Amino acid sequence: MTGPGLDYDKASLARVYNYYLRGKDWSSVDEETAQAVIRLAPDVPEAARENFRFAGRAAVWAVAEHQIRQVVDIGVGIVNDLPLPSVENCVLSVDPGATVLAFDNDEVVLAHARALRRGYGRVLRGDVTDLDSVFKHPDAVGLIDTAKPLVVILAAVLHFVPDAAAVMAGLRERLALGSVVVVSHVTSTQTSGRRVAGMTKAYDEKAISPIYFRTEEEIRALADGWDIVTPPGLVDVQRWSPDGTYAGPLYDTVRVLGMTVMLPGHLQEQADTPGGGR
Ligand SMILES: C[S@@+](CC[C@H](N)C(=O)[O-])C[C@H]1O[C@@H](n2cnc3c(N)ncnc32)[C@H](O)[C@@H]1O
Repeated sequence: MTGPGLDYDKASLARVYNYYLRGKDWSSVDEETAQAVIRLAPDVPEAARENFRFAGRAAVWAVAEHQIRQVVDIGVGIVNDLPLPSVENCVLSVDPGATVLAFDNDEVVLAHARALRRGYGRVLRGDVTDLDSVFKHPDAVGLIDTAKPLVVILAAVLHFVPDAAAVMAGLRERLALGSVVVVSHVTSTQTSGRRVAGMTKAYDEKAISPIYFRTEEEIRALADGWDIVTPPGLVDVQRWSPDGTYAGPLYDTVRVLGMTVMLPGHLQEQADTPGGGR
């Protein structure tokens, strides 16, 4: 340990991801973990970049298409040193007046954001498995209004959560009709068992949290009680594009699936209720 809550003996999920994205904020244990994964699945860095682009693209779609002006990015990671536009940058490029709040539960991410104070200058401590820590965070109260539609970004975070369905059920309970949740998740479907087992083992042995590969059907089931926005539905992140204008190449060694979901009945509710709130 090099400081309170900062454990440099274990790989941080955020720093391993930063390594994949060609950032600079990783240490040797993060590099070892990332390299163990990349040896098994050389497409991981490119898939991570496509996942990052998906999050921004889907957030922009939700904000522009549904005029939702509040975005909550949970599990934001380290975004400041990347040669890619963050969710916040993407959202503000289409709606400069939108509110974007970022949360993470990793001390490393929080310390990094505090030190830099640019881009996502503010990352709040919040855990996706404890939604009160996000929506009742003292610094969020007054900035976001859960009685009105929100966009919630869950990009590459639910695969670190054992009970991802409980997170989606919790969001269903507390978000207003018309809200959008953006989800991406690694899948074991159409990836060799040897690769999935090896990547799982790398995180088990070296990282602060295990990784849970889920099948395509298990990921689709996370949308139970929600409407999956179709087209494009649940697809590889680099194929997620409602108007079909974005289509990156598919990868042989790893797959990350993406979808956006809305609460059922939102269209009827919006028609019935001026403003679209619950
Ligand atoms: C792979 S990174 C994804 C970063 C970013 N969302 C993206 O897709 O570009 C996963 C992030 O989720 C965070 N995370 C993992 N479990 C979490 C939890 N229970 N609550 C909040 N954040 C979590 C990690 O600290 C890390 O920053």
